[in-house]
Amino acid sequence: MRPRIRGGRTTVLAALLSLALAAPIAAAQAQGAPSARPAADSTASAELPHQYEVTGLATRAERTALAATGVSIDEVHARAVVITATRAQATAIRQLGHALRKLPDPPGFATPSPHKPRVKDFPTGYTKYHTYAEATKEIDALVAKYPAILSKQVIGTSHEGRNLLALKLSKNVTKDEQEPEVLFTAHQHAREHLTVEMSLYLLNEFTSKYGTDPRITKMLDSREIWIIPDLNPDGGEYDIASGAFRSWRKNRQPNAGSSSVGTDLNRNWDFKWGCCGGSSSSPSSETYRGKSPASAPEVQVISKFVHGRNIGGKQQIKAAIDFHTYSELVLWPFGFTDDDTGEGMTQDDHDAFATIGKNMAATNGYTPEQSSDLYITDGSIDDWLWGDQRIFAYTFEMYPSSFGSGGFYPKDSVIPKETARNREAVLQLLELADCPYRAIGKEGQYCKGS
Ligand code: ARG
Ligand code: ZN
Repeated sequence: MRPRIRGGRTTVLAALLSLALAAPIAAAQAQGAPSARPAADSTASAELPHQYEVTGLATRAERTALAATGVSIDEVHARAVVITATRAQATAIRQLGHALRKLPDPPGFATPSPHKPRVKDFPTGYTKYHTYAEATKEIDALVAKYPAILSKQVIGTSHEGRNLLALKLSKNVTKDEQEPEVLFTAHQHAREHLTVEMSLYLLNEFTSKYGTDPRITKMLDSREIWIIPDLNPDGGEYDIASGAFRSWRKNRQPNAGSSSVGTDLNRNWDFKWGCCGGSSSSPSSETYRGKSPASAPEVQVISKFVHGRNIGGKQQIKAAIDFHTYSELVLWPFGFTDDDTGEGMTQDDHDAFATIGKNMAATNGYTPEQSSDLYITDGSIDDWLWGDQRIFAYTFEMYPSSFGSGGFYPKDSVIPKETARNREAVLQLLELADCPYRAIGKEGQYCKGS
């Protein structure tokens, strides 16, 4: 049991108050921007967020209080964190007494100009990352090359109308066989481009090594693997559309009555949505939870897909990993509460989660922990997948470990190493998917006859 850390309520209150004051100012500033810009660029005039190092906080409660101001927490250390915030939010946090240091903006970062053409490709040093069009092309080529083991479905569209894909990998891929299913998702957060590369790595690895690599062959023979390679294509394209990274996190759905665009997809899932101070009700926040659970079309589409895998009252998907960057972490539910166990999480559930999580982390060198050890989040996908669907769902925060090694924007030269780094963890989860409780030696109790 971890120690309960309480307190910090007044900090939360003060933070909320000062943000309530700051929000109209930010909105007024946005509205006061020149209005003669072409419609397509109206959002480009909105202020882009920056990363800041915040020192002088050490507890989970202090971090959750900071998150309650609506910033995203990108990195957690013993006595400091890195956040993403607008200038107005940074000012509000300084007024709470925290020491903030602005970190350098991403490479090529510039205020997008309405006169600049839309480049829609990654900048120099990043061109091996796949744009949405490039990823689509690569996926289609793989489907054409390996039709017996890989199939593609369009399961819906994003707010701006881009296809959301589900790729299925399995022997006899066109048949729905009685096999445990495992789901890999990526790119809820726009700027976390390395996670799309993770999806593409898995697709390439599973297809090209089927029939030669015994573990991969066995998994495709006995599992149905689902890869949703890109949950937030609109945000991803927006992040690169000016030719310079925008540090964008959310989707690109407008918010009625606000000039701020976007919902944080990983606060929008329909389990304990907005319950616990782990998301924001303000559209200008980096962690805006949306106007209602699953109000983001991308979350709706993936939720419907997962519901569709419930066949005859039995959820076929047994385990999942949702890929994010960065911090090199393996996280498990719940995020909405500091408690390790409780309603919806028995001691055995928790022990299985922790054991598998620690074993996976031992293979990639990440740090394993319950997600709320960082700070409280509500409406996250892993909480929904477990809390609502009883899927053993993990969040991986990929490379790097810190801002100093590239933060959200590591160079493309790291892609091969940092995607392959998760190969063993992915295989371990696949191999346990028929009965995750085997990890704690309780298959007899939980998985008899299945
Ligand atoms: N950094 C990610 C986010 O802010 C994950 C936070 C951990 N919590 C969780 N429930 N996975 O969305
Ligand atoms: Zn993320």
